Amino acid sequence: MKIFKNKLSITMIFASALLIQACTTPSNKSGYDPVIEAKVDSVLSLMTLDEKIGQLTLYTSDMDQTGAFLRPEYKEDIRAGEVGAIFNAYGAEYTRELQEMAVNETRLGIPLLFGYDVVHGHRTIFPMPLAEASSWDLDMMEETARVAAREATAEGLHWTFAPMVDVSREPRWGRIVEGSGEDPYLGALIGAAKVRGFQGDDLRDLHTMAATAKHFAAYGAAKAGRDYHTTDMSDRELREVYLPPFKAAIDAGVVSIMTSFNDLNGVPATANEYLFRDILREEWEFKGFVVTDYTAIMELLYHGVAEDPAHASELAIKAGIDMSMQDGFYHQNLAQLVEEDRISERLINEATKNVLRIKFQLGLFDDPFRYSDVDRQKAEVMKDEHLEIAKKMAKRSVILLKNDDQTLPLSKNIQTVAVIGPMADNQRDMIGSWSAAGDWSKSVSLLEGLKNKLPDVNFVYAKGAETTGDDRSGFREALRIARNADAIILAIGENYWMSGEAASKVDISLPGVQEELALEIEKLGKPTIAVLMNGRPLTINTLDEKMDAILEAWYLGTTTGDALADILFGDYNPSGKLPVTFPAHLGQVPIHYDMKNTGRPMDPNQKYTSKYIDAPNEPLYVFGYGLSYTTFDYGALSLSSTTMTQSDSIDVSIEVRNTGKYAGEEVVQLYIQDKVGSVTRPVKELKGFEKIHLESGETKVVVFTITNDDLKFYRKNMTYGSEAGEFVVYVGGNSRDVQSMEFELLE
Ligand code: NOJ
Repeated sequence: MKIFKNKLSITMIFASALLIQACTTPSNKSGYDPVIEAKVDSVLSLMTLDEKIGQLTLYTSDMDQTGAFLRPEYKEDIRAGEVGAIFNAYGAEYTRELQEMAVNETRLGIPLLFGYDVVHGHRTIFPMPLAEASSWDLDMMEETARVAAREATAEGLHWTFAPMVDVSREPRWGRIVEGSGEDPYLGALIGAAKVRGFQGDDLRDLHTMAATAKHFAAYGAAKAGRDYHTTDMSDRELREVYLPPFKAAIDAGVVSIMTSFNDLNGVPATANEYLFRDILREEWEFKGFVVTDYTAIMELLYHGVAEDPAHASELAIKAGIDMSMQDGFYHQNLAQLVEEDRISERLINEATKNVLRIKFQLGLFDDPFRYSDVDRQKAEVMKDEHLEIAKKMAKRSVILLKNDDQTLPLSKNIQTVAVIGPMADNQRDMIGSWSAAGDWSKSVSLLEGLKNKLPDVNFVYAKGAETTGDDRSGFREALRIARNADAIILAIGENYWMSGEAASKVDISLPGVQEELALEIEKLGKPTIAVLMNGRPLTINTLDEKMDAILEAWYLGTTTGDALADILFGDYNPSGKLPVTFPAHLGQVPIHYDMKNTGRPMDPNQKYTSKYIDAPNEPLYVFGYGLSYTTFDYGALSLSSTTMTQSDSIDVSIEVRNTGKYAGEEVVQLYIQDKVGSVTRPVKELKGFEKIHLESGETKVVVFTITNDDLKFYRKNMTYGSEAGEFVVYVGGNSRDVQSMEFELLE
């Protein structure tokens, strides 16, 4: 196929590439594929400075908007060869149309890279990331990314801006819903699973896409939970808490990294040489390319570290940022910087190669249109198999927070159920934020799911209240239907736009008059089940006290109603566990399970100890918590040895028995505490888990193996390694209810 019209032919380029290949000795040490490197060098040698800068420029199309402003001339930019990548454009036909401009109308015909926020599904929408994380099911999380990639690539996309691997202990921060919660260990495993899911084994495979680990770094630690706000932390905290998921994503082969909006210790991430050159490239030997977040180079002006656009661009390119998203700062300033000798063209070459390399890896130079296939699009998008996977994932993402007197599951013989609340007959909110090309009108509301499942049960609906405002006029009707019902399902929470980007809150209680509505209904004395749909931990102490049962459903995606109906009526036994602590009071934030002991550990009887005088230290629900319709008994913990050296290991075994009448799944969790270190250590840290299925009455033995790697941390001198001494190992079904034993790491 001829893709370079009227100008240089692809044959010419590859003839020279082959020549170069023949003349160079490929360096196996570099980690790059020598064949691709030769082609990249060959293309680079043909490019003008402006063409190279084009490859470092990413603009949004006007098809979708994921940031404040657009560049209406993006099509002219494509035709001029001044843009190398486009985002917010999808669909086999539209991507083909834009690709034709790049391939047929520019001098070199270098194909465009199409990116998009395929965060939790493309057309079939899966649960929000925080919800998926609640499943603790790594295989399923990998699977949903794989399906998302199948659908997205069938619509012409090559590159997703996911996974977001920002650890966050900040429920005020709306973007906590886009991540995997508070824990670096769980977050690292999930980040790697997502990368494997999106990218598969081979980027050339038409069903896989390039992934992006974002936002580098420490974005989840925004001061006071306000989005885009400053972060300031020790190198130790950065490396122990915020960086591990990025490292794991890189080890899993992620090909791009996105900068974060925040400044870190005084240096905005997008100008941060320490992050991008020292850590990412030098220490971690990252081989992919770095893209900014939306207009982040321009924002260096507002951060107050750049005097003008040229200066901002200089800081970014020097820091190792390859591609600018949307602000056009590279487009407008890099050439001038080279001409004025403020930066070397070598920097531009390096960045251009990083971008070209991925285009070769995706096979775009062989066939730039290979992803834009109308037939494949029709066949892939929202196919039954994908919806089945979505439903399976949705069921696994729900957490049972409370279930007094086995209120749940409801009997299928029940006659009348009142379904009340602003989230009940609601399709839009079910797919959450960052729902890509998801069509909310195809999502199944809770009410619809219930009716579909059990046509013989009388489900009566009243909205009762909105999520916002103080209008109580709907209470009357809600109470009327509740009075005549055998059970009440109360679907309450936050609208999808109340979390996500630029959706920070100072109040994390249930918004509007929903709690009041719940309390009025509870007074009727009927079995009342709250189904929460929300994007952050909420302070719901009163609900916890008053409701008979509570399900945390987050936003479950396209198949929400079907999944919840299965859970409410016992066809699926909830197995989710919290990936994030639910504070009892906002004033406890940041609160997470892996806190330090302090020099004055809490003692309720001693005044001068670390505690509050107006509230307990304990959260409402601890990390790792979640109930089941059945009960699990943990037998005695046993260790294969109580001593180990750095080169051996200890097996930790525990017997878990399903003592209830339902089959169910339990996430058995292993935590470790280093009792004495050269620096203070957390009271416990998650170091292993296993999700097991047990039939009623069945027993399984779970065995974890502790190795020296599980005991490492950043020591006083910031070297990474373990220290000899005593450790405590904890095992249980959440981070609080655990058994413990001690062992010693010998010198
Ligand atoms: C801004 C967000 O911070 C980022 O996560 C997203 O990928 C980009 N916009 C592109 O939509």
